[in-house]
Amino acid sequence: MSLFEKERSDYGFGKLDREDLLEDPFEQFKFWLQAAVEHEVPEPAGMCLSTCIDNRPSSRMVLLRGIDHGFLFYTNYLSRKGQEIENNPFGCLNFWWPTLERQIRIEGTIEKVSPEQSDEYFLSRPLESQIASAASPQSQIITSRDELEQAVNTLRESGITHRPDHWGGYRLLPTYFEFWQGRSARLHDRFAYNRDLREWQISRMAP
Ligand SMILES: Cc1cc2nc3c(=O)[nH]c(=O)nc-3n(C[C@H](O)[C@H](O)[C@H](O)COP(=O)(O)O)c2cc1C
Repeated sequence: MSLFEKERSDYGFGKLDREDLLEDPFEQFKFWLQAAVEHEVPEPAGMCLSTCIDNRPSSRMVLLRGIDHGFLFYTNYLSRKGQEIENNPFGCLNFWWPTLERQIRIEGTIEKVSPEQSDEYFLSRPLESQIASAASPQSQIITSRDELEQAVNTLRESGITHRPDHWGGYRLLPTYFEFWQGRSARLHDRFAYNRDLREWQISRMAP
């Protein structure tokens, strides 16, 4: 049997109707995230972040680290994603929570969080994570793992007192949300929230 011929999964966990949705998509997101945590979805804060430069998209997983008026994540500003965001602030997040058969898409523009907010988050991280993010020239070619480990050891010895300038937070400011609930026979439920001036307009979408 080929890898792709295994039995197709049919989704039956739940359904999504217009009356189930909260009017504020941030609240709807938090409601679903809470359910994902309660159902022990592995890595519920893991989200696929897509950025795009010269019409060429790229995606990678990052961790959602907070929600205010946007969705917060932390990374290396000089990384590939950082450079792409610098050149084109439009980005897209995607969450897939298989246990609940739910997908959420969030589109918007990305900005840096304030240096103070990045400092606060950086210093709240375990020391080893602080050292790793300061030592790793994320997305650059390195000659060996030794090179990386040596950079870590050097920083461990010298100590780390503050957040490096090249590392910090981003905030994706949503203009579009989409909540997807798997249903039987591929007739899934999908609802989009589009921001029209200050109001969110909710529409059912064909699966
Ligand atoms: C589940 C998961 C969570 C991750 N979280 C982060 C994160 O929060 N920040 C980060 O910089 N990289 C994170 N990574 C690593 C990224 O996927 C990626 O390899 C790295 O950021 C470099 O991406 P880039 O070269 O496209 O900039 C995570 C990877 C996985 C699999």
